[in-house]
Amino acid sequence: MDKKLLSPIKLNNLELKNRIIFAPTSLGLSHEETINKYKQIAHGGVAMIIVGDVPASKTGFLSLYNKKALQYYKDIINAIHSEDVLVCAQLHASDSKFTSLIKYLPAVLMKKMSPSELRNKLNESVPHYISSLSKNSINKLVSNFGDAAEQAMKIGFDCVQVHGDRLCGSFSSSIMNQRSDEFGGSIVNRTKFAVSCVEAIRKKCPTITIDYKLAIRQENPHYGNAGVLFEEISTFVPLLEKAGVNSFHVTIANHGSLEDTIPPKNHTYFKEQGCFLKFADEVRKYTELPICGVGCIEEPAFIEQQLQKQRIEMVAMSRQLIADSEWVNKVKNNEEESIRICVRCNQKCLKGMQAHQGVHCIYERSAL
Ligand SMILES: Cc1cc2nc3c(=O)[nH]c(=O)nc-3n(C[C@H](O)[C@H](O)[C@H](O)COP(=O)(O)O)c2cc1C
Ligand code: SF4
Repeated sequence: MDKKLLSPIKLNNLELKNRIIFAPTSLGLSHEETINKYKQIAHGGVAMIIVGDVPASKTGFLSLYNKKALQYYKDIINAIHSEDVLVCAQLHASDSKFTSLIKYLPAVLMKKMSPSELRNKLNESVPHYISSLSKNSINKLVSNFGDAAEQAMKIGFDCVQVHGDRLCGSFSSSIMNQRSDEFGGSIVNRTKFAVSCVEAIRKKCPTITIDYKLAIRQENPHYGNAGVLFEEISTFVPLLEKAGVNSFHVTIANHGSLEDTIPPKNHTYFKEQGCFLKFADEVRKYTELPICGVGCIEEPAFIEQQLQKQRIEMVAMSRQLIADSEWVNKVKNNEEESIRICVRCNQKCLKGMQAHQGVHCIYERSAL
């Protein structure tokens, strides 16, 4: 029987040649290394690569409006397109004040504060930041999403993903959002920021394909502080669909420990392959749009089963494709047994990024 994971799928007006996507992954590598890494992953046969953390902002050194960054993005797009692979820009807006980052930067540089301590400090500042944003600032942030999507399409991206676990995730969260106006309080109000961002994109780019990274908070036990609760999905998902979303990329919410969203093998709770797919099952009840599963997924047989059961329509992998970028080609060529399976050690990928050494893998020759 032909494998479903190798079959094409339509997302709005785009056709993905198979069901495998490289999940958004900030690589922390040099320009040249980044281009080579994306080219290598594209060469391995995935249908689409999501470029992580593209700022929906007019300023900043990675902004789509910055001349140097523009060349960087064009080089990435060309490298990926040259392998007949689609490329998606993950648009994000930060939910902490730039001044908070500046305040702690000297301590980080002097190694008096670890990256995870910095993360905790920035997370602590989010509720105040969300509550203090003026309506004018909110309108500007929203229109930035529309403008960034337009700019992304202009320079050659094929589609966009709205990062629903930064500013959108914080506005959605009853923990992070303590506003008392139309952007806070009820789940409908907390959805308004994310919905407005999607509408702004749809208005500027009527035919664009919009994916939404949907962050879900879990209670009992508690994991993640941004995003929406299980019981809020029934409101959140239909409103986003109505605003113009074409597909959902479903995962656990963040703003806690990074190890909870990128779980190591010995994580106390998220140990199983496909540990976040239960969130996709809940989203499935409220939409017929394609759903992409992500998180601790490695094995072709497991993926095929989830697709056949129609739990999900696509799979995104980060660490597995870092461990073996030839994953899709090996499945195509019936060489599955030679796939280097990611052991979820986080040693050279997540820890490499945290140590400012860039994302690598224990399987890389130089790392052995
Ligand atoms: C080094 C690294 C960087 C990441 N950067 C991003 C990012 O920029 N944006 C994002 O939404 N997720 C990011 N993620 C999370 C992944 O997209 C993915 O959700 C997570 O790693 C779980 O999938 P996996 O088990 O296939 O690695 C990153 C993950 C890793 C390992
Ligand atoms: S370093 Fe470990 S967790 Fe990271 S990609 Fe390689 S095998 Fe997977």
